[in-house]
Amino acid sequence: MPKDSYLIRNHPILSFPEKERVKFYFEGKEMEGFLGEPIACALIANGIKVFKWTKKGRPRSFFCAVGKCSSCLLTVDGRPNVMTCMERLREGMSIERREPSLWKEEPSPQAKGIKEEGKRIYKTDLAIIGAGPAGLSSALTLAQLGLEHILIDDNPKPGGQLLKQTHKFFGSKELFCGIRGFKIAEILTEEITRWKKTNYLLSASVIGVYKNPNGGFDLAVVQDDKLLKIKTRVLIGALGAQENFLLFENNDLPGIYGAGAVQTLMHLYGIKPGERALIVGSGNVGLIVAYQMLQVGIEVVAIIEAMPEIGGYHCHAAKIRRLGVPILLSHTIKRANGKDFVESAVVVRVDKNLKPIKGTEKRFNCDLICLAVGFTPLSDIFASLDCEMVYIPELGGYLPYHDEDLQTSCPGVFVAGDAGGIEEASTAILKGKIAACSAYEYLLGKKKEVSLIKREAKRRLHELRTSPFLKKIEIGLNRLWKAQEGI
Ligand code: FES
Repeated sequence: MPKDSYLIRNHPILSFPEKERVKFYFEGKEMEGFLGEPIACALIANGIKVFKWTKKGRPRSFFCAVGKCSSCLLTVDGRPNVMTCMERLREGMSIERREPSLWKEEPSPQAKGIKEEGKRIYKTDLAIIGAGPAGLSSALTLAQLGLEHILIDDNPKPGGQLLKQTHKFFGSKELFCGIRGFKIAEILTEEITRWKKTNYLLSASVIGVYKNPNGGFDLAVVQDDKLLKIKTRVLIGALGAQENFLLFENNDLPGIYGAGAVQTLMHLYGIKPGERALIVGSGNVGLIVAYQMLQVGIEVVAIIEAMPEIGGYHCHAAKIRRLGVPILLSHTIKRANGKDFVESAVVVRVDKNLKPIKGTEKRFNCDLICLAVGFTPLSDIFASLDCEMVYIPELGGYLPYHDEDLQTSCPGVFVAGDAGGIEEASTAILKGKIAACSAYEYLLGKKKEVSLIKREAKRRLHELRTSPFLKKIEIGLNRLWKAQEGI
């Protein structure tokens, strides 16, 4: 059964009601997990630190927890390369990892396992990909405008990153000030349900997006190993972002997780990802995750930050320091130590050019290294639709060029939330609203109906971006608007 030491029994904010237990087999050994939790989470809760070895014998477990890094692939019920952070646990599942000696090339189950029979085709005027803060906000705005649409997400529950966020939001009442992230997801979802205009397609992965020669777009979607086709006239891409990785020695050891993966384990499934953690990155994510780890009894040995200043809000940093966690500025991680999983980490001071200074190394004993070093927009679908792409480092990297109405260079394709530049959940909510208004206007030509909503959302967005912590965003946006001249 899941080991007690890995399960979070008491949490100051969340509760984890007992779920139905199921038996499964890992390498033939009987284990127990909770029905419907991701297989990877069940393995970690059973104390499995190494999921498999690569061809070269490097151990692997998981990193992103959202199906983006391919670190967690295992053989499940004979199907090779199953993404175990996305695949849900069922009674009697048999999970195998591969020893290096058994490594052989195998076809991807995404290609092999999809059943074409009974292919379902849905038609809609508008499809939204991604049911995080931006996607939910788009869906609610469209529902309030009376436009029926499809909302697709690869998770079984809408909410995206909001579901993992236990902290209270800042800002105005309209932007859920004082409400915790997971509650905001509940509020938005309840509101959406009330309007009865949103058709959810959950646990559904969009594997291809194509321009239809007769107009509109075709989406290839896999749900329950079956292929669905969605024909839509207009598309809003609210895919969010993926966590950045960092280059250092042994950075692939099991026990090195992205901050979002740590939150997934702790807040969605009630699992402790480790006992002693080093956090890399002092932005708001790093600071908040540090506090959340302390809440579940994980010792945070330090937060390190390569820049000479703290990246996140100083109120968060002050709280962490009061709780005894050192924040080492101008420090980076040099190496992770351990044979099959993290046992310690070596950090080093850096000079003003971010070059490590010899002789300043420090070692921390830890079994978890949490990387909170920023995000990259998930923008592949825009590139595959031939949208003009631009590289804006301040906004997280490659993203589709878009104007202030969030229209990309491809008519009928709009971008909402972090997929169009990394900001915050509050700005994602506003961007979702703007994209919905623009898409509505594009589809129905009704400008008057949405102009007030859009103007108000833009005003609030501008207000949020004037915060000194979002200065970088302003710089990035100026570059983005300038990029238009070259397009
Ligand atoms: S794809 Fe599963 S952990 Fe990243």
